Amino acid sequence: KGSGKFLVGGNWKCNGTVDSVRKLVADLNGADVPSDIDIVVAPTFLHLGMAKDQLKGPYQLAAQNSWVGKGGAFTGEVSAEMLTDFGIPWVILGHSERRSLIDESNEFVGEKTAYALSQGLKVIACIGETLQQREANQVFEVLDAQLTAIADTIADWENVVIAYEPVWAIGTGKVASPEQAQAVHAHIRQWFEEKVTPEVANSIRIIYGGSVNDSNASNLAGQEDIDGFLLSLDIRSAAALHPSHQDKISSRL
Ligand code: G3P
Repeated sequence: KGSGKFLVGGNWKCNGTVDSVRKLVADLNGADVPSDIDIVVAPTFLHLGMAKDQLKGPYQLAAQNSWVGKGGAFTGEVSAEMLTDFGIPWVILGHSERRSLIDESNEFVGEKTAYALSQGLKVIACIGETLQQREANQVFEVLDAQLTAIADTIADWENVVIAYEPVWAIGTGKVASPEQAQAVHAHIRQWFEEKVTPEVANSIRIIYGGSVNDSNASNLAGQEDIDGFLLSLDIRSAAALHPSHQDKISSRL
């Protein structure tokens, strides 16, 4: 395991209404969160302020994206310095939905990671292979290229968490088996050992995302190199951070 607390991130993606966010926040405020877990909640940009004002307890907030450099004439973007100024400590970068739908390249994700870190944000950097790449036996090659593009831009990994999200497991109900996920997480840790430093390999948190639910969370969390989860926490899956779920996760740590 990496050092640091088990981290559970809830990515709301492009979901939510004023009403549903109010309900979800109330649900989270009523949850009994174990103190040995970092919980990072990532609403849309529009709902970040509301969540920040209304969430109580140990929740930390994340944006789902930030601009690659200093703000300015970049219509529709939100910059890293705006997030730190607003008191948002985390940002999710390189999610596969942005890589595939918005065409974000490995290099672009690397540059965004460097800029976000330079502005004092902590980054959940997402990597993962498609089904086609897995079937072509390219998993490690794809992940290594995604990691290398980040390593090319940063030297200090202290504020980085790696989220391994196999694209074929996201929102599909097809979760990676604990063995499949562990094999990839071990590979990622080994990559850090060889390409960065053994210290970073030992300390970095590598979390898993893709169809994690109440029934598979415990087995996944029990794997040696799985240091947390990234869940799709849209309004339908609020139960993912419910006390019953957390108990199952924390009982296996
Ligand atoms: O970022 C987390 C997400 O991609 C995982 O989605 O719906 O499979 O939990 P889901």
